[in-house]
Amino acid sequence: MTHDPLEALEEIRKDFDAALAQARVRGDAQLLEQVRLEFFGRSRGRLTGFLRTVKELPQAQRGPAGARANQLKKELEEALAAAAAGGAPQSAAGVEDLTLPGVPALAGCRHPITLVREELEQVFLEMGYAVEDGPEAETDFNNFTALNIPPDHPARDMQDTLYLAGGALLRTHTSPVQVRTMLARKPPLKIICPGRVFRRDAIDATHYPVFHQVEGLAVDESLSMADLKGTLLEMGRRLFGPKARVRLSPSYFPFVEPGAEFSVSCFLCDGAGCPTCKRSGWIEMGGAGMVHPAVFRHVNIDPERFTGFAFGFGIDRIAMVRYGIDDLRLLFDNDVRFLEQFRGAL
Ligand code: DAH
Repeated sequence: MTHDPLEALEEIRKDFDAALAQARVRGDAQLLEQVRLEFFGRSRGRLTGFLRTVKELPQAQRGPAGARANQLKKELEEALAAAAAGGAPQSAAGVEDLTLPGVPALAGCRHPITLVREELEQVFLEMGYAVEDGPEAETDFNNFTALNIPPDHPARDMQDTLYLAGGALLRTHTSPVQVRTMLARKPPLKIICPGRVFRRDAIDATHYPVFHQVEGLAVDESLSMADLKGTLLEMGRRLFGPKARVRLSPSYFPFVEPGAEFSVSCFLCDGAGCPTCKRSGWIEMGGAGMVHPAVFRHVNIDPERFTGFAFGFGIDRIAMVRYGIDDLRLLFDNDVRFLEQFRGAL
C-alpha cells in the first residue's frame, strides 16, 4: 500500500484499466456493471472511497489529490460509457492502449431453417434438379386456378388465405412455382423451390402464419410413380441416414392424380415408435403425386405426351425433429440465445 495519494490514484487507474479490459473481452454487460460497482459503488467503490477521504488529507496534499481524483473520476466514467457502447478499447486516460487484449469479433451462424434448406438443395442439386425461386405475393391463378383448385374449394377460404389489396394473395404453398416454371420453360424439367408460405393461423407451439416449404416438380415423357418414390427415398436417406424408408399412402390434392401423403421412417427409433414420431414409427413429411392433366392443360403442356410428379413438404418440422426443438415459435422469434446454439451445426 502506498501512502502517497497521487500514487494511490494511479493504482486505482491501473486496476480499473485491467478490470475493464477483462469485461470487454468477455463482452459481458454484467461484468461491466461489476467494474462500475467496484470503483464507483456508493459505499464500497474504490474511487468513491478515495474521494470521501480527500478532506482528511494534510493541507498540502488535499488540493492536488482532489483535483486528480475528480479528473480520474471523469475519465473512468467516460471509459465505462464507451465500453458499454462498444467502442474501441481505451485506457482510462482516453488514449488507445495497444497492449490491451483485443475484443473478439462475434461470428454469426446460420439459422436452423437455413441449415435444413441448404442441405435439401444440395441433395436435389446432386440429383440433377435446379433450384427455383418464386414471389411470395402471388396471383389467384398461380396459387389456385392453374393447380386445379376450383373457386369453391375450401383451400381458398378467407380463413386460410391472406389476400392483398388488388386481388393478389400471399402464397399458401410453394406449389405455384410449379405453374411459373412450366409456363416459362419446356420439359424435361426437374426443379425444387424452397420458400416461405403464409396462412391465417393462430400462433401456438405448432402453428405460425409464416412457415417454410420445399416444392419439387419433374416433368418428362415417361415418368411414373416409381420415379417419385425413388426420389423421395433418396431424399429420406440423405436427410435421415441410409436405413430410412419412405411410405406413400393414398391422399387427395387437387393438382395430382393419384395423390399421396408421404412419411419417412423415424430416424431416432428406426420405426419402433418413440416420442419424436408420436409412437407411430413414421415422420409425416408432406404430399406428393403425379401431376394432374388439368394442371398440364393450364400451362400448355400436352398431357398425352408428358407425365410428371410433384411433391411438397414443410422444412420447419424437419428442423424441429432434427434439432429437438419443441416449439415452432423459437424458429421465428430470433432470440440470440436460441440462434447461437447452431454455431458450428451441420
Ligand atoms: N401444396 C400442398 C400443401 O401445401 C403440398 C403438396 C401436396 C405439394 C402434393 C405437392 C403435391 O406438390 O404433389 O399442402
